Amino acid sequence: MRILLAVVASVAATLAFFDTATAQYANLISCLQGIQGNPKSYLTIPSSSTYNTDRLGYNVNFNYKPSALYHPATVDDAGAAIQCAAKYNISIAPRSGGHSFEGYGQGGRDGSLVIDVNQFQQFSMDAQTGVATIGAGTRLGPLYMRLWEAGQFLVPGGTCPSVGIGGIALGGGIGMVSRKYGALTNSIVGMEMLDATGTKRHISETSNPELFWALRGAGGGSFGLVTEFQIQAYKAPSAVTTMVYKYPLASYRAAMEGFTKFGRNAPNEFFGAMSVRSNEIELRVNYLSSASIANKTVAPMLARIGVKPLSSDVQEGSWIKAAAKWSGSTNPLDDPDLSVHRYHRGGSLVYRRLLSVTEMDTIFNNLNRRPAESASAYVIFEMWGGKMDRPPRRSPAAFDRHRGVVLGLDFGITWKDPTNQTGTQCAACLEWSAQFRKELYDAYDGGPQSLEAYQNYIEFDLPNWLEAYYGNGVSRLQQIKKDVDSNNLFTFPQSIPLP
Ligand SMILES: Cc1cc2nc3c(=O)[nH]c(=O)nc-3n(C[C@H](O)[C@H](O)[C@H](O)COP(=O)(O)OP(=O)(O)OC[C@H]3O[C@@H](n4cnc5c(N)ncnc54)[C@H](O)[C@@H]3O)c2cc1C
Ligand SMILES: *[C@@H]1O[C@H](CO)[C@@H](O)[C@H](O)[C@H]1NC(C)=O
Ligand SMILES: *[C@@H]1O[C@H](CO)[C@@H](O)[C@H](O)[C@H]1NC(C)=O
Ligand SMILES: *[C@@H]1O[C@H](CO)[C@@H](O)[C@H](O)[C@H]1NC(C)=O
Repeated sequence: MRILLAVVASVAATLAFFDTATAQYANLISCLQGIQGNPKSYLTIPSSSTYNTDRLGYNVNFNYKPSALYHPATVDDAGAAIQCAAKYNISIAPRSGGHSFEGYGQGGRDGSLVIDVNQFQQFSMDAQTGVATIGAGTRLGPLYMRLWEAGQFLVPGGTCPSVGIGGIALGGGIGMVSRKYGALTNSIVGMEMLDATGTKRHISETSNPELFWALRGAGGGSFGLVTEFQIQAYKAPSAVTTMVYKYPLASYRAAMEGFTKFGRNAPNEFFGAMSVRSNEIELRVNYLSSASIANKTVAPMLARIGVKPLSSDVQEGSWIKAAAKWSGSTNPLDDPDLSVHRYHRGGSLVYRRLLSVTEMDTIFNNLNRRPAESASAYVIFEMWGGKMDRPPRRSPAAFDRHRGVVLGLDFGITWKDPTNQTGTQCAACLEWSAQFRKELYDAYDGGPQSLEAYQNYIEFDLPNWLEAYYGNGVSRLQQIKKDVDSNNLFTFPQSIPLP
């Protein structure tokens, strides 16, 4: 009898919860529908015909169902949407390019209000200062193109042209020119942000300085909705050389060792990424000078590897040509292919030393045993250092936690969808990933509780994720969170928690 009563009570409580939640969602939607805003602002709700495409991020290994997705055309409309969410206590997920590894641009759970900034595409360039004003919905490919056309400028950032500036700039931003110009986040000089009350705030070294520190490295989704960035851009060098070398898998030790030992002390003009997959090793170098200088500089690296590459491809050209090449797509940079989605489980670790032979063997052995159900398994080695430790703009940032890192690993597994349904898990792939991560974590100095990782390759299962991403900045971030969003409206499974 007691058990039965308990069951009845718990069913009733569950139903009450759903009723309340459903009512809150209905209230939220009518509030959003009532925004008397710009006619170009639009709303997608669960009954919309576009709901099931609009709610997809790049990684379709998630099937989160937002309560609604709002696409404001103006900052005022975005502010009104935040006020609707605040009124009914609905979590807000800002979304820019939707490339979060864990679907956090969709909230990382059901029921969030996604505020998608894709209509914020403004761009202008102050030719005097080289500071670019950039709408928070801009994707990297179009951004590189706009900067180039504004006078052959560049900013450091990633290779994938469909990644959104919102996520990448607030979490770091590492790529082809980072050893020369630092991480993208360190070049931010100002931002416009809407806080949890829908109030506009200008964020800079002198205006909201605590937020200026926090947003540059820990800003994605935790403190407010960034609508615009002001970023220091740099004149592109006149010649850029792209170099691609392929190596046989059997020489993985020589390749990893030769690349990382050279890369650690390479000139800042050098950026290298070595991707190791179960079928090939590819070493990519972006060198900010002519091919003859690039060839001369990397010669000791090739000698150190000591194995004849299966192929090599060295091309000298402009910065924008190099960016198009690294995009890995035949689409023009300003028109990235947004139809590409992946089933993906990935993560990262960063190191203040190079890998041991045992760790290299661990990587190789794991790639070798990837499950048949997977499409690919990869580890990408990236050399950090250079100006990432001494960025041109030296204003302290939450991202400084990673100063002194020499090597970043970015790893993952992808699989095909047998049914074309989103949220289809490949159990063998997830198991592979868990085992691989466990072996790497166990070998990390200090073990699985002392990991350091790059927050833009965010990963749900990372044992000590807060410290891994933010180090001794955690308590300061929590205080700032409390000061700006004490009701925790901007929340997702790995947002900065309240103190
Ligand atoms: C294929 C691929 C390639 C990548 N390559 C690189 C690379 O070369 N270098 C690199 O450094 N990283 C790279 N990344 C990682 C990338 O930087 C992160 O996934 C980044 O968070 C994606 O940003 P987004 O805006 O596209 O994603 P979203 O999913 O839209 O956002 C990511 C997070 O930021 C928050 N956010 C987004 N916009 C805003 C905003 N306007 N205001 C406040 N919070 C916001 C979201 O709420 C979410 O928590 C890559 C990722 C993928 C999938
Ligand atoms: C808002 O909702 C969260 C859970 O989603 C809850 O923990 C919190 O107490 C709520 N806040 C208010 C003010 O109702
Ligand atoms: C650079 O090296 C490649 C071989 O790796 C060669 O094909 C190319 O001609 C060289 N370019 C210059 C300018 O030396
Ligand atoms: C799955 O999608 C692909 C391409 O998107 C399509 O060619 C194929 O027919 C689809 N399969 C099913 C079972 O719907």
